[in-house]
Amino acid sequence: HLSVQERIDRKRNAALVGGGQNRIDAQHKRGKLTARERVELLLDRDSFVEYDMFVEHRCSDFGMEEDHNKFPGDSVVTGQGRINGRLVYVFSQDFTVFGGSLSGAHAQKICKVMDQAMMVGAPVIGLNDSGGARIQEGVESLAGYADIFLRNVMASGVVPQISLIMGPCAGGAVYSPALTDFTFMVKDTSYLFITGPDVVKSVTNEDVTQEELGGAKTHTTVSGVAHRAFENDIDALLNLRDFFNFLPLSNQDPAPVTECQDPSDRLIPGLDTIVPSETTKAYDMLDIVHGIVDERVFFEIMPNYAKNIVVGFARMNGRTVGIVGNQPKVASGCLDINSSVKGARFVRFCDAFNIPIITFVDVPGFLPGTSQEYGGIIRHGAKLLFAFAEATVPKITIITRKAYGGAYDVMSSKHLRGDVNYAWPSAEVAVMGAKGAVQIIFRGKSNQAEQEAEYVEKFANPFPAAVRGFVDDIIVPSTTRMRICRDLEVLASKKQTNPWKKHANMPL
Ligand code: COA
Repeated sequence: HLSVQERIDRKRNAALVGGGQNRIDAQHKRGKLTARERVELLLDRDSFVEYDMFVEHRCSDFGMEEDHNKFPGDSVVTGQGRINGRLVYVFSQDFTVFGGSLSGAHAQKICKVMDQAMMVGAPVIGLNDSGGARIQEGVESLAGYADIFLRNVMASGVVPQISLIMGPCAGGAVYSPALTDFTFMVKDTSYLFITGPDVVKSVTNEDVTQEELGGAKTHTTVSGVAHRAFENDIDALLNLRDFFNFLPLSNQDPAPVTECQDPSDRLIPGLDTIVPSETTKAYDMLDIVHGIVDERVFFEIMPNYAKNIVVGFARMNGRTVGIVGNQPKVASGCLDINSSVKGARFVRFCDAFNIPIITFVDVPGFLPGTSQEYGGIIRHGAKLLFAFAEATVPKITIITRKAYGGAYDVMSSKHLRGDVNYAWPSAEVAVMGAKGAVQIIFRGKSNQAEQEAEYVEKFANPFPAAVRGFVDDIIVPSTTRMRICRDLEVLASKKQTNPWKKHANMPL
């Protein structure tokens, strides 16, 4: 006969080993950490406060009611803790218990931490490793997913939500990560898909492996479903800690400011010559970004997807900023469907969470062609325009070279309420490049070379925009960091609101 204390201890100890040593060993053999080891690595030492260690599933079909099928805590570890001293809520699915599958109780545990995170204003991090709906529970489990989805939607724009996929995530389960702000994956051990290879084969007759269908490479390069992939569990969790440091705790919190060793008035002489004099020659926008931001630290989001636009987080004088830049190295930095959507989602995240946006512009326009038009570039390009226009956070724009056509308007132009818009001397703000322009307006006429020279003289420079006040100043490139840091200081107290509405109807 056990005392209450002995029973408590016994349950706690049982919860700590999840599905038991054999399953823990199997998890390790696959190169994966256990749910608890992951939480330990993610959070500051000894900061984890666990909830619901005694919760058990309530299924009584298929022998599930038997003692050996009950695991204290069920198949997920939940609670709160700290990352560099800042509060965060976590759930970590435990693959060692029924393959991490989602029971009603499992879902309830996740909902509990999400509700509290929203009430106190702290981010939620989900570590996903699950075989999906608990098959023995049926609709109970589906209800559990929907309860989580609803909270993902309610929390969107209130607290940052991050998903790290560290094992299987299939079927309905994928929609929770999809609803969160950022989805990261672990290479080789994680996958995300609506239906697995067997179902795909039977419906479409396609032969595809799990990895090809929904592995980290697919989602970070082809589908754009995931924002970054990491080498293994440890690499992913340590990167997640770094990433977390950029984020505010909630939409009521300012973007975090950390101590900065990098002088805010540092000049960057290399920038004065970085833009090639030939307008068709490429350069790497990342060199500019790295040069300007604090200590060259740039956490790129979606580095391998739609590479013609660069987005990510950095700091300026210790303050988190969101960076958006056209990438002249890839497809001349033109905007297309994928880059517009990538940029728009990033801009909206920054705007929702008080993160100033710095935009570097070198854009020759939108990508022409039937595949783009048929794919709906008009609709998708409008997303980026919409996102920049509605954003009320501080917006600083630097035109490094081309700012052509509608794409000029889109890229955080003065007209979309850019707060400070700069041009480098190499900037050209025009309807199009000189050659194309002359071919149209002087069609069939002789001396086109002469006309082209005149067009360049008139338009291929920063003056037409500067004389109209569409850029606030033409600056020496090497001073760009200093200018931005100063402007951010001034704009820190910016207040701007949009007209009241239930919500906007952005072109989805
Ligand atoms: N419900 C209940 N139990 C589940 C489960 C689920 N959705 N998914 C996995 N499990 C159990 C397995 O029955 C197995 O239990 P056992 O060791 O006692 O036999 C244990 O978890 C480990 O699963 P296993 O299949 O051995 O692991 P795996 O790494 O070989 O495969 C999956 C992992 C996720 C691919 C595989 O378990 C799977 O296909 N699961 C079902 C996925 C699904 O269709 N879910 C419902 C739709 S959302």
